[in-house]
Amino acid sequence: TVLVVDFGAQYAQLIARRVREARVYSEIVPSTMPAAEILAKNPKAIILSGGPSSVYAEGAPSIDRELFEAGVPVLGICYGFQLMATTLGGTVDNTGSREYGRTELTVSKPSSTLFEGTPGAQQVWMSHGDACSAAPKGFTVTASTDLVPVAAFEDDGRKLYGIQHHPEVMHSTHGQQVLEHFLYRGAGLSPAWTTESIVDEQVAAIRAQVGSRRAICGLSGGVDSAVAAALVQRAIGDQLTCVYVDHGLMRKGETEQVEKDFVAATGVQLKVVDAADRFINALAGVSDPEQKRKIIGREFIRVFEQAQAEIVAEAPSDEPVAFLVQGTLYPDVVESGGGTGAANIKSHHNVGGLPEDLEFELVEPLRKLFKDEVRMVGQELGLPDEIVQRQPFPGPGLGIRIVGEVTRERLDLLREADAIAREELTAAGLDRDIWQCPVVLLADVRSVGVQGDARTYGHPVVLRPVSSEDAMTADWSRLPYHVLARISTRITNEVAEINRVTLDVTSKPPGTIEWE
Ligand code: XMP
Repeated sequence: TVLVVDFGAQYAQLIARRVREARVYSEIVPSTMPAAEILAKNPKAIILSGGPSSVYAEGAPSIDRELFEAGVPVLGICYGFQLMATTLGGTVDNTGSREYGRTELTVSKPSSTLFEGTPGAQQVWMSHGDACSAAPKGFTVTASTDLVPVAAFEDDGRKLYGIQHHPEVMHSTHGQQVLEHFLYRGAGLSPAWTTESIVDEQVAAIRAQVGSRRAICGLSGGVDSAVAAALVQRAIGDQLTCVYVDHGLMRKGETEQVEKDFVAATGVQLKVVDAADRFINALAGVSDPEQKRKIIGREFIRVFEQAQAEIVAEAPSDEPVAFLVQGTLYPDVVESGGGTGAANIKSHHNVGGLPEDLEFELVEPLRKLFKDEVRMVGQELGLPDEIVQRQPFPGPGLGIRIVGEVTRERLDLLREADAIAREELTAAGLDRDIWQCPVVLLADVRSVGVQGDARTYGHPVVLRPVSSEDAMTADWSRLPYHVLARISTRITNEVAEINRVTLDVTSKPPGTIEWE
């Protein structure tokens, strides 16, 4: 394991991802963790991340010297580089001049461990105020910029390396190479962490955890729960039962996809509960978005509990159903403090958010993985692209994409319009460019149109294509006009009652991605 010590800001996760892209397993630890504890984890290498502080700011995070003296290779990046410099006796000046953004780095020692084989002048991404003016004793300066005399240094004997720039961002053109040099040449690691090895390791861990007992998993049709279920199925076979609650708010073809493709690919034991009537009845007369969400969440839990009781009744066994499989991902784990979090089921605003009094032990085979790694594991397990590459879809489904009351007829209209938009976006090869494209039915709005010389009085739909990294912020996607035109023509021609297609050009913030 390579440990990335997180000094704040957003950099640590990105570094951890880049290390993993180099096929070396990495984990993030907070900078408040004492050096002894970090070293006790037996890391093969340590990377100190960048952070928002100045090493001179009051209360700025620091680091025990011990970390550099244990013989573990260390790479300091940006703030981590400056900490390394000051901790080991170098000089960092509070120059007041900031270097920010694209900068040219001049490599002064081309044969250095980190820079060998990279250009003598290369573009890097900088973001710092203070600057290192003298390297600690024993270190060789390996690069500089116009403003910073010491932009990189290394002590190959002690396996200590530092760079002022951010190798983890795309704008550092040789960043990945520099990181890999640290990992392979500096720390002597090899690229052994592969998707295959992840699967093997997780399968073994799940078997050890579950033993001969039974587990259930709520499938939502989304990537995370599908991959988690497939992994657990690979590990314990029929000791796992998946429950898929069809709440009638699914998109066209979704339930079939789970029923057929997912089962075909995994051989999983699946219980599909058709609860459409129940949900649609419960939603009758309700227009308020929060109330809709609450109703959907509540009904989901009831149906799930009932399904669980049925599973126990249908297949009596001495082995209790003791485990609940969840598709928790690494970013959630890091953000909630990285604890082992034994039994706390986080109640996201998710239909899958199960009540806390369900007495299960959690199986979370994805809790060390980033989303793109989850997709790779899904592929490795043989799941079809339609599942593995799916765009996010909210748990409450189309129920929160009908502005106004949710009825069967309205759901049917929206399902058709949504299917057309998805089909055209896929045909245009845009699925990977956009994050998702909700289609929203303005059910309480009517608009006048003309079709075949006759007046129509129908409903508008809104296309909401967005690009995003993590759904926290988003921008509206600049879809090509010809694609928009095709979607518009097809929806208005093929879906009676919809006579207008509009485009949402709001970023997030201020608009959320979904309309409700
Ligand atoms: P908003 O609308 O908050 O959405 O910008 C951000 C992302 O989350 C999805 N979303 C949900 N996902 N349960 C979910 O599982 C929900 O209740 C829910 N609400 C929104 C949304 O599709 C987008 O990707």
